[in-house]
Amino acid sequence: MSSSLPPYVLGRPADAPLDPPPLFTQLREGRPVTRVSLWEGKLSPWLVTRWQDARAVLGSDAFSSNPELPGAPNFREGASRGPRGFFLSYDDPIHASMRRTLTREFMVRRVDALRPAVARLTDELLTDMTDLVGSVDFVEHFSLPLPWLVICELLGVPYSDHPFFQAQSKIFVDLKATAEQTVQARQALTAYLLELVRAKRVTPGDDVITRLAQQADAGVITDQDAADMGAFLLLAGHETTANMIALSVVTLLHHPDQIPYVLGGPDQVAGAVEELLRYLSIVHGGLRRTAVEDVPIAGVTIRAGEGVIVPVHVANRDPGVFTTPDGLDLERANARQHLAFGYGVHQCLGQPLARAELQVALPEIFRRLPDLKIAVPMKDITFKQDTVVYGVRELPVTW
Ligand code: HEM
Repeated sequence: MSSSLPPYVLGRPADAPLDPPPLFTQLREGRPVTRVSLWEGKLSPWLVTRWQDARAVLGSDAFSSNPELPGAPNFREGASRGPRGFFLSYDDPIHASMRRTLTREFMVRRVDALRPAVARLTDELLTDMTDLVGSVDFVEHFSLPLPWLVICELLGVPYSDHPFFQAQSKIFVDLKATAEQTVQARQALTAYLLELVRAKRVTPGDDVITRLAQQADAGVITDQDAADMGAFLLLAGHETTANMIALSVVTLLHHPDQIPYVLGGPDQVAGAVEELLRYLSIVHGGLRRTAVEDVPIAGVTIRAGEGVIVPVHVANRDPGVFTTPDGLDLERANARQHLAFGYGVHQCLGQPLARAELQVALPEIFRRLPDLKIAVPMKDITFKQDTVVYGVRELPVTW
């Protein structure tokens, strides 16, 4: 039945690697709620591409994020949702009870206190990078280590162990890994975190894992929940931000006339970061849900048991909300209405941290390296075309 449907494609056009696929743009204009084919036609979930409709889906409790429901439009067949500490895959009330144990950690004021540490790490990484000569991989030397260092500092995880958890995390996000490999990677990571939760009881620190261990002592959660949430934060907190930093650099170097705006002080950089989040919308695998009751969306009835994919990179280019949506305009007044962090109960918990990292790092990069250049032509940059979260695999730069 679904062989004639357009497939859901990851990736961006080779000739316009910062834009969504033209087919999705056409669908948004002509058939804003339409079926697409997944798993080589075995499943045909709905694709919801307009901003307003995307918010309606993500803001409604008629849609579940449980990937184990029949009809769930997962990235691969046979996906399991894992333990409840990975609460993105759970609905309320379990989702709310897990998320609540972390909300204080990500409050804007709490995260703002981390800005000096982010600035120090940014400075150290840029100093180390500029000690190197020739063309240097910006991903290896800056955009990947910065979020790792920050999330380790926040959680109280020793950064020296990062080769281990970076390896597990690579398997976890690899869509070509088997279901078994994914589960093994997750379990290795949570076993490591479980040991850390217990160690923090003996030697507490001023960090998230220590406070989760205390909540476990108080009976609010279990040790396993604390370990699972720690692993979930490690995974959620680095790859996304790393990709966003590197792609923002690519984008700004492609629009050099807009770089001075990023250097114009905290208000300007805050606005610029929102526009970069909108423009790039890196979670281009789409946010995935399954209807648990019949719901009308833009005149189409989505039936209970049917899957929905919300491609935020397409919704964030909706001309009904953003004027000249395909242009980068760092001064755009309503950029913050973007859905790059999702919307509704699952809206990104770490967004204040992601914003802080981008707001600190981007101006510092261009202030320190006014002659920063990508060492290869745009067509030779290796973009991550087949991953849930868009980014660059490496970015050779000179300065
Ligand atoms: C630029 C960087 C980031 C982007 C673009 C991003 C994007 C997103 C999106 C789109 C969602 C919603 C997924 C859905 O509804 O299906 C999400 C959820 C989440 N993000 Fe982020 N994220 C970023 C950084 C971070 C960081 C730094 C952390 C933590 C340190 C984090 C932790 C989480 C968590 C825990 C959730 C699940 C929330 C829930 O289910 O209630 N993210 N993120």
